[in-house]
Amino acid sequence: MFKNEDVNFEVLRQKAFNYRWAEQAHDVIPLTAADPDFPVAPEIVNAISTYAKDGYFSYGPPHGALEFKKAISDYYHRHYQAFVASELVLPVNSAAYGLFVVMKHVLSDKGGNVIIPDPVDFLFRKSVENTGGEVRTCPIVEGTADFDVEKLVNLIDENTRAIMICNPNNPLGLQITVRHLEGLIQLAISRDLYIISDEIWADIHFGHATCSLFSDELSFYRKAIIVSGLSKNYGLAGLRIGYIMMRDESIYQSVFHCSGHATTAFGLQGIAQAAGIAALTECDYWLQVFRQHLKDMKQLSTEMLSQSTILSLTNSNATYLLFPKIMDPAISSSTYIEHIMKEAKVALVPGGISWFEKASEGRVRICFATSRAILQEALTRVLAAESNYFK
Ligand SMILES: Cc1ncc(COP(=O)(O)O)c(C=O)c1O
Repeated sequence: MFKNEDVNFEVLRQKAFNYRWAEQAHDVIPLTAADPDFPVAPEIVNAISTYAKDGYFSYGPPHGALEFKKAISDYYHRHYQAFVASELVLPVNSAAYGLFVVMKHVLSDKGGNVIIPDPVDFLFRKSVENTGGEVRTCPIVEGTADFDVEKLVNLIDENTRAIMICNPNNPLGLQITVRHLEGLIQLAISRDLYIISDEIWADIHFGHATCSLFSDELSFYRKAIIVSGLSKNYGLAGLRIGYIMMRDESIYQSVFHCSGHATTAFGLQGIAQAAGIAALTECDYWLQVFRQHLKDMKQLSTEMLSQSTILSLTNSNATYLLFPKIMDPAISSSTYIEHIMKEAKVALVPGGISWFEKASEGRVRICFATSRAILQEALTRVLAAESNYFK
């Protein structure tokens, strides 16, 4: 399922945008946006065909299809020992939109500030700023995905509304520890803050399972919210499938209002929900094989990049991303990726404030959700370009 023959370059060059194959010159290999190079599970394709067969594409329920909400709730129970009431799950048009909607709910009354990790994906900042909120970044303890607690506590004031976490962290590729999550919940309770966990990467781990914010192991908190989706685990980024999970009926109603679903201006298409049901109810086996393949690719990239004269890998145990440091402080993230693009014809994502906040400068992000042959070719070219260029 995850061999080089399974990668359809012709289709990728037509359909894979966002810095990937369709946006690159023919000789460039993109290890950029976190979107796998493989086709999705056959069960998902069947579900989409079946949905389309009767020829009806009517308006769907504004709160989302009941079967999809139940599939999400059951999936969380099965994979994360987490109780999620299906009536408090709101399917939305992408996890990105989910973050924007949640921030609208959190900030729309009286504004305020929101604490986000540094580094983290740029969507965190965008979602806060989109509602006029102030972003406060909190450093992560080196080698972990946990906040520096002392700094976190010092950032909180009377205008703080929420703490956002990314578990596992994109770009660090690390899971937040259970103990830290419990500490964050207790802190949020004591200061009456929302805690919002982006768990879109939760299924992609190589050691132990990710601890969800709604896990039975953790305290129940009314103002805890999860945003997740099916772009990373089941390769469905183009269907824009996201969901928001809540623990309180009045919060659900407010988030629903903020979503704009009631107006029909927004909402998740029925065909995407049909695909989502198939992914969550029939494809556990596919995810398992995908994870094994990713584990092998992580090992391959780690071995190859250990020969790099410029990059130094840091530990990671989740996501299909590597986030090495550039050892020479004189080489910036953008200089490195520009040279690699020019000399190796490999596209990477730079660190830096506009991508992953300030602490990401001096690093580069490499996506390894591709076949062995492609990855080997790309990294061989990177290593050769390094030795030719950075002397
Ligand atoms: C942490 C995180 N949240 C959200 C998203 C966006 O997900 P979606 O494709 O569902 O909008 C991404 C995509 O890279 C991500 O890494």
